[in-house]
Amino acid sequence: MASLTIRKLDEHVKTYLRLRSAKNHRSVEEEVRVILRELIEGREEPLTPFAVPPGASPAAASTRTSAVPEASVTLIIGGGIAAFKSLDLIRRLKERRIEVRCVLTKAAEQFVTPLSVSALSHERVYTDLFDPQSEFDAGHIRLARDCDLIVVAPATADLMAKMANGHADDLASAILLATNRKILIAPAMNPLMWNNPATRRNVAQLQRDGVLLIGPNSGEMAEAGEAGIGRMSEALEIATATERLLRPPVPRPLAGKRVLITAGPTHEPIDPVRYIANRSSGKQGFAIAAAAQAAGAEVILVSGPVDLGNPQGVTVKRVESARQMLEQVQAALPADIAIFAAAVADWRVANEGEQKLKKTSAGMPPLQLVENPDILATISRLADKRPPLVIGFAAETEHLIDNAKTKLARKGCDWIVANDVSPSTGVMGGDRNTVHLISKNAENNGEIKVDSWPVMTKEQVAIELVAHIAKSVTDKSVDKSLEPAS
Ligand SMILES: Cc1cc2nc3c(=O)[nH]c(=O)nc-3n(C[C@H](O)[C@H](O)[C@H](O)COP(=O)(O)O)c2cc1C
Repeated sequence: MASLTIRKLDEHVKTYLRLRSAKNHRSVEEEVRVILRELIEGREEPLTPFAVPPGASPAAASTRTSAVPEASVTLIIGGGIAAFKSLDLIRRLKERRIEVRCVLTKAAEQFVTPLSVSALSHERVYTDLFDPQSEFDAGHIRLARDCDLIVVAPATADLMAKMANGHADDLASAILLATNRKILIAPAMNPLMWNNPATRRNVAQLQRDGVLLIGPNSGEMAEAGEAGIGRMSEALEIATATERLLRPPVPRPLAGKRVLITAGPTHEPIDPVRYIANRSSGKQGFAIAAAAQAAGAEVILVSGPVDLGNPQGVTVKRVESARQMLEQVQAALPADIAIFAAAVADWRVANEGEQKLKKTSAGMPPLQLVENPDILATISRLADKRPPLVIGFAAETEHLIDNAKTKLARKGCDWIVANDVSPSTGVMGGDRNTVHLISKNAENNGEIKVDSWPVMTKEQVAIELVAHIAKSVTDKSVDKSLEPAS
């Protein structure tokens, strides 16, 4: 297949590519690849990348498009006998869908060839600081920053000394000095070199500078009859550490917990075609379900009629009326945490028409209302199956905090999330919410604590609430003695 020499492109095309690649923090070659991929996939970026704001932060400039792999590493291979293990490391990183661009020191070229490194990484290999081909647009700066992490393996005693003292007289050390990314080094050297006071000082300095170390391990050396600390960590160990740094495990503080949530309005039938409803959209309850699921909980969401899709990984039970909602809630017990975010109708029509009510000369049909079951109070006062943490929602249009405090006591729940749903707030059906978390303070004789949160999106409220729940579950701060007598 024909190759493309960027140097031979028209001047204005080169300028365009340079600016666009600098903006996206990619190499020019990589940028060309991304442009081609996007054209083929029909996701062309607008051809106006020149509007890079002056002084734009590197973080903002490093925004990646979906065409770029999730993670990338600049791997610096130092000139030690363990360099052969780095060939395996390249494979292990690529197995983990981590893009690898390799830099070889001059000494490293004595141990592994650029050809084999390039064949394994499927990328060009960089060896020279003064390479006109990559330096026409400051290639060493891109190698230093167009990655998520820099890995040095093997990190020779010499390379560590250079790093500790801020040298930049070759490509590897210049990259290490110019980077704003985390650096993980895998030292490899003879035990005497490792234990030498100069190396000890350099290691200590590097650790103070925030450089991360893996290994060295102890064992036999390449030199006949020598053993001790100095063997480079195995490729698999380095790849695992790299992946952990690039993709830290997501905390799942609610793993093993069963969370029951209600959401949305209820529809209380008047006759087969008419019903009493309210303006609840269900967005807050659905957002809490998604956040609890993301925190590792098993989530059962009982929802009234809403226009929302099922959150991923959540068991959803769709209901119409308050009585159906209570039935599904009871069927879903036991649960560790119950969050009642639904706007359940307080009343229903006592004499629901079996047929559609007709206009008659006798005037309007008398609509007698009766009270609906109180789901929050019912579950809060259960004798045996009461979830250890019961949270209610209070949607109020006046005296928000006072009404919510009264509700907390009256219903017998542990926490109330109070929100002002006056029409002017736009909360009902809207995307934002301003809430106050009202809880019984277990440490202080059941004193009521009010925590007012700033205005947030409903997703942020959900995440914050789940974080509070996770903390309380961990702290076991829900004081059993405060639960209502049943
Ligand atoms: C056969 C051989 C093996 C070597 N192995 C190591 C080693 O494992 N670790 C190390 O720090 N230096 C080792 N060295 C010394 C380095 O190659 C030397 O310090 C070189 O300048 C390092 O360059 P670099 O840090 O730019 O890669 C070795 C040298 C030779 C000749």
